[in-house]
Amino acid sequence: MKKSILVISNDPGVRDMLTNLLGEAGFSVSLAGSGAEAVKIVTNTALDFVLVEHFLADFSGVELKRRIRRLSPKTRVVVVSSFTTIRSSDDVLRFGPSDFILDQREILELIQASSEERVATPPPMADDRLKRCLVDTFDILVGLLKVNDPFFGGNSHITMEYARSVAEDMKLSQEMIDEIVVASLLHDIGRVGIKGDILAGKKEMSEADIRTIRSHAENGAKILEAIDFPWKIKPIIIHHHERYDGKGYPSGLKGREIPIGARILAVVDAFAAMTANRPYRRALSREEAVQELHKNVGTQFDPEVVEHFTKIVEQKYFFRGVGSKPKILLVDDEVDYLTLLKLKLVSEGFDVDTADNAEDAMAHLARSKPDMVLSDVIMPGTDGIGMLRRMREKSEYADLPVVFLSGRDDNNVKIQALHLGAEDYLLKPVDFVLLAAKIRNVIRRDEKRKKGAVPGPSTGVVGDLKNLGIPEIVQTLHLGLKTACVTVTRGDGDEGRIFFENGRIRHCAIGDTSGEEAFYRMLRWQEGPFVIAHGQTTTVRTIEMDEMQLMMEGMRRLDEEGKDPVGEP
Ligand SMILES: [Fe+2]
Repeated sequence: MKKSILVISNDPGVRDMLTNLLGEAGFSVSLAGSGAEAVKIVTNTALDFVLVEHFLADFSGVELKRRIRRLSPKTRVVVVSSFTTIRSSDDVLRFGPSDFILDQREILELIQASSEERVATPPPMADDRLKRCLVDTFDILVGLLKVNDPFFGGNSHITMEYARSVAEDMKLSQEMIDEIVVASLLHDIGRVGIKGDILAGKKEMSEADIRTIRSHAENGAKILEAIDFPWKIKPIIIHHHERYDGKGYPSGLKGREIPIGARILAVVDAFAAMTANRPYRRALSREEAVQELHKNVGTQFDPEVVEHFTKIVEQKYFFRGVGSKPKILLVDDEVDYLTLLKLKLVSEGFDVDTADNAEDAMAHLARSKPDMVLSDVIMPGTDGIGMLRRMREKSEYADLPVVFLSGRDDNNVKIQALHLGAEDYLLKPVDFVLLAAKIRNVIRRDEKRKKGAVPGPSTGVVGDLKNLGIPEIVQTLHLGLKTACVTVTRGDGDEGRIFFENGRIRHCAIGDTSGEEAFYRMLRWQEGPFVIAHGQTTTVRTIEMDEMQLMMEGMRRLDEEGKDPVGEP
């Protein structure tokens, strides 16, 4: 069956020409001389395609396209002006500047392509999986290539995340989002081969140096030319240094002539670079970097993209670019795990140093004090606990937050670690994004403590009941003859407190419930963050039983309830 097409143009000559061309190509052609006439036809006729001239007397082509899409969502609408496709809506976003329609053959090809696209069956699931797998592989490989680069380290993953978020927020098609994601990972691959001192800007730039640097955009596309990617990434890579005002390179494209992927990349890449530390300058804060983007809206950057990105960075990435990049010292003897962990944390926006043993870690600390240490426990030579002990003996590291990340699920070791003031004891394998969020919290808390904003967690420890249960905490504080308050906060809003005085439990309360009953309830809790504030006391006395009796009675009640605590996991 013939495909139907409606041609809308003010110009009878254009209508005649297109009628002949499309008729010869096997289309059933109808014509309209105005937008209003076209709307009538679309309302009453099922059409496969509409070809609309951009400048009509009563509508703009883009406006009419919107109207037609509403009336007939399945109709494919292409806006054409003097044989030049106007970059609007999905066509705008879909094609790069090399896709201007310059002759009749190209109009037919575009319609043909649109037609094939519509009838194409969705790719099999295996394809999607393979594509995802490929993207993840690029992510890791590009990350590994850059992870030790002091100038560009860690930006590829962050840039990719930002680019994906903007593309999603702009409601681009999944195909385009994938293209932008892949291009954001590979866009600077053309830097390969450019001498380090030129890239680092260590020397005075000659004209030749500037030409060399600028060549990276086109070189990147050339390097990837031989690969038959399932994504159209070449235009994005070539044009990622174009400017909105047309003063960029390599082609001096302007405004919407620049592929949308390249416009997005220009913004997010600039933000990622501005908020990263460089050997020769400090990182800008999030606010400063956003201000820079706004200053350059309309000249360097696409206003629409900046608007979307500003919203996203405030809602979704509010933790990025807040102050300088947090610095973490990672200590682990498993070098492959250490590298992976470094890559993941760098990708999450941290500055990361590594050491594969305690001695090396202590030497690192002496050279440069990090914001936090993340350490394995079992290591040859001095183990993690021994290292923490040595750190606590030195006043300069006495308060340095330490989190353990270990494969060893041993309560005695956990207790030792927490006794020494470790912030947390996490078990491998760990979700890296969750780990990054926990690290940020620990560092934020430590910063507040240093500023005196919260009473000193240095006098206590924090953790989660998942890793250290109430019985172990009671045992530790009781045997250590501690005076402290243990506060456990639960997701449902309940907060429980147990007060110890010289190792004796004196008071326990959850909301209005206090005494033994409150203690037995807390004993059922198996998860929830806790804080042990040493030295915190109360004059309230609600518990007379000794700790052993209290624990035994609590356990007996749990046994009676069927051992499996119900209702308060
Ligand atoms: Fe670049």
